[in-house]
Amino acid sequence: MSSLDNKRLKIALTKGRVEKQVVPLLEAANINCDQIRNKKRRLIFDSETQPLEFILAKGPDVTTFLERGAADIGIVGSDILTEHQSSQYELLDLGIGKCQFVLASTQDFDPKAPKRKIIGTKYPLITKRYFDSLGQDVEIIKIEGSVELAPLTGLADAIVDITETGTTIRENNLKIFDYLDKVSTRLVVNRMSLKQHPDEIFSFVDQIKQVVDKKGKTISK
Ligand code: PRP
Repeated sequence: MSSLDNKRLKIALTKGRVEKQVVPLLEAANINCDQIRNKKRRLIFDSETQPLEFILAKGPDVTTFLERGAADIGIVGSDILTEHQSSQYELLDLGIGKCQFVLASTQDFDPKAPKRKIIGTKYPLITKRYFDSLGQDVEIIKIEGSVELAPLTGLADAIVDITETGTTIRENNLKIFDYLDKVSTRLVVNRMSLKQHPDEIFSFVDQIKQVVDKKGKTISK
């Protein structure tokens, strides 16, 4: 079944921080986002001006919608795409939602201590790859949110998490011990949708790309 059966391109957008940064970008590309701005508890919206439908979902679920063909396009962080080993086409780096993976802990943490570490994280795969690259076998505890609590409570020796402004780490008196991969928001397309509806998809992507390119030029000036 094609998800364009009702002639609308379905776009799964990560709600929360990504949504807040993406809406102004969509608006700059002349895509009306009034419904998203006034959404209250609604999760799905038809654009009034264009054949687009927006689905608001949590990041990991955006990859599931895409993988299963329930969305044609996903807007989601590269952290989630890597962790969930997404196999869809990444067409655009939106240059927003910029953050970075870090290894952090309480001030007294010794990364070189000769013991098997316990690491708390929302990203077990990325964490395992990082410690594998260091030749270290660690125990990983999957945490769903407020990861910073793990070293503060003694649940883990350290955490691997993303930081954007650094505020959460600072305000909880944690320290960064290493910097891992950088993260940004990406536009990803379902492979089958791209084969079936290349014109509609490329036209949408080009619309967004023009704004991203213009913004990039302004920043680098
Ligand atoms: C993320 C991340 C940190 C925080 C870092 O959590 O896991 O906790 O943001 O941001 P900062 O460097 O700007 O302070 P998020 O707020 O997305 O959700 P969570 O607390 O539920 O994990």
